Amino acid sequence: MNHQVSGNTEGIREALLARLDSLYTYEAEEGSFLPRDLMKILAECSCELNREIAVYLTRDGEIVSVTVGTDRDVELTDYRLRRNERRLSRIRCVHTHPDGDGRLSDVDLSALKIFRYDAMTAVGVKDGEPTYVQTAFLGEEEEILMPEPVRWYRVPDRSWMDQILFSDEAVGREMTQATGGDRERAVLMGIESMESLEELKRLAETAGAEVTGMFLQKRSKPDGALVIGKGRAEELARECQALEADVCIFDEELTGMQTRNLEETLRVKVVDRTTLILDIFAQRASSAEGKLQVELAQLQYRSARLIGQGLVLSRLAGGIGTRGPGESQLEMSRRRIRERMTELRGRLEELEKQRTIRRKSRERNEIPVVALVGYTNAGKSTLLNALTGADVYVQDQLFATLDAVSRRMTTPENTAYLLTDTVGFIRKLPHTLVSAFRSTLEEAALADVLVIVSDGSSERMAEQHDTVEEVLRELGAEDQKRIEVINKCDLKDADPAFPGAVMISAKTGEGLEELKRKIAEALQESYSPVTFMIPFSRYGQLAAIRPLGRVISENHTDSGTELTIMISREDTERLVRRFGPEILRAGAADEIQPENNIPRADMIQ
Ligand code: GTP
Repeated sequence: MNHQVSGNTEGIREALLARLDSLYTYEAEEGSFLPRDLMKILAECSCELNREIAVYLTRDGEIVSVTVGTDRDVELTDYRLRRNERRLSRIRCVHTHPDGDGRLSDVDLSALKIFRYDAMTAVGVKDGEPTYVQTAFLGEEEEILMPEPVRWYRVPDRSWMDQILFSDEAVGREMTQATGGDRERAVLMGIESMESLEELKRLAETAGAEVTGMFLQKRSKPDGALVIGKGRAEELARECQALEADVCIFDEELTGMQTRNLEETLRVKVVDRTTLILDIFAQRASSAEGKLQVELAQLQYRSARLIGQGLVLSRLAGGIGTRGPGESQLEMSRRRIRERMTELRGRLEELEKQRTIRRKSRERNEIPVVALVGYTNAGKSTLLNALTGADVYVQDQLFATLDAVSRRMTTPENTAYLLTDTVGFIRKLPHTLVSAFRSTLEEAALADVLVIVSDGSSERMAEQHDTVEEVLRELGAEDQKRIEVINKCDLKDADPAFPGAVMISAKTGEGLEELKRKIAEALQESYSPVTFMIPFSRYGQLAAIRPLGRVISENHTDSGTELTIMISREDTERLVRRFGPEILRAGAADEIQPENNIPRADMIQ
């Protein structure tokens, strides 16, 4: 049975899990901070398990999460993303201490500050009964308001509920003064080129920051400890101060040591390009798989950069580099990070299997796949919408789409195909991301036809095109039929820089008919199903054919293996030349789409 309870649920008996699950439907009475019956349930379960249990209550009294920990701690969840950064999270955390001690620990109090809970409450538990309860609230200037512990049946419900509202106001005032608003002020530092720095600016803005300064110091290679040299770093520190920066973003990948050194010198949070991109991905991921992939990529990147005790403290300030599905893992130990990464890999593998099954069923349906690929912001989602009338998220921001979106289409000749939008590519795409998103990007690698979309209005179209080529190479997507498209022709008279490129505007619809025709032609020309008949004695031939296309079916008959595969005409001809015409199943070529000019066994010498 699937349980909703999260955390350390191993070895818990079914009935107890079901009891904890039932808490998800629990509702505290209005105005009640911590109902006694809830405390009793928590005490009984926690005592039986000898593990901490945390529940998260909304201001309306609903329980949104139940987590089981160990005998000494429980992983805490961050709810800040759900709303305004300048307010409390609207969630209070109530957790048990099975050692009987109802006092809050230092860790509990720092979690209260970081996650901006409405309140943090510990319930001591002994012999299956609650003992004492202590609650802390946030006040102005990071102050923590913590009344003395009270006996469990003396919880002052009304006044603690009121205190949440006072705290919310106090924190709101505080944050407005401290930051002057929601947006982080960012100073950018590059050592490569202005173009790269400009792109970094767009990335920073996409991540929600306000860029207040940009600096470039050309260097052939980064200076070890401080990347830009000691003198320049000190100057940058003054610039960051003058520009009231909250964060300095480097257009390079930094090591953990470099980040720490720079933070010490600059005295602001330091983030590198990869962390910034991961942050955007973290904010954008919407599917379950996308979230797992981003969390894994973030953990991989962070774990390689953990120094000594953990992350540099300023990281805990929030904002870029601290967000994501794995945000609460900022405080995790190395061992826990490793465990979590293994867990994530396992879950991703599981999803990958399902995806393979889906893909297989698609293959059985013989639907060819056309993938839209291109640099981020080239207009792929707009094009998918224009071609299909679908409603895909379009924004003038980088990486608006993270998950592959597919729509079923038909050519004028009535051939069905799937049109797939993929994640945008970018220069210096972090390596961890390419591997994390491999399965999503493989949609492109496995497609029968690639439509490469370029932004004709961009000054750097050729360079962006090179990046796309590079990522495709990395994915092993080099051999498919390609259609070059130059988009946004309404903005600029772009020149058809690539031979045979179709000039379009996804916005006005110009050129779309031609593009559809080209897609139809490419599908007709390139791949069609062919059935081969291979005797068992010639097993090697089978191995030579299989990798050439998508296998539709493979049947073992009395006389050998009958393999039907989507294959290009050139490959079919080559195979026939190499192995002889008898490899084609008699009559197979006649059966299948004669207009495709599949060579018939009797026509080939
Ligand atoms: P990623 O999700 O980052 O990969 O972006 P994308 O390639 O899917 O780009 P998207 O479709 O989100 O478009 C990016 C921006 O370009 C949006 O503001 C679109 O409105 C705009 N855009 C797309 N096509 C055209 C076009 O033909 N002409 C003009 N003027 N703008 C366009």
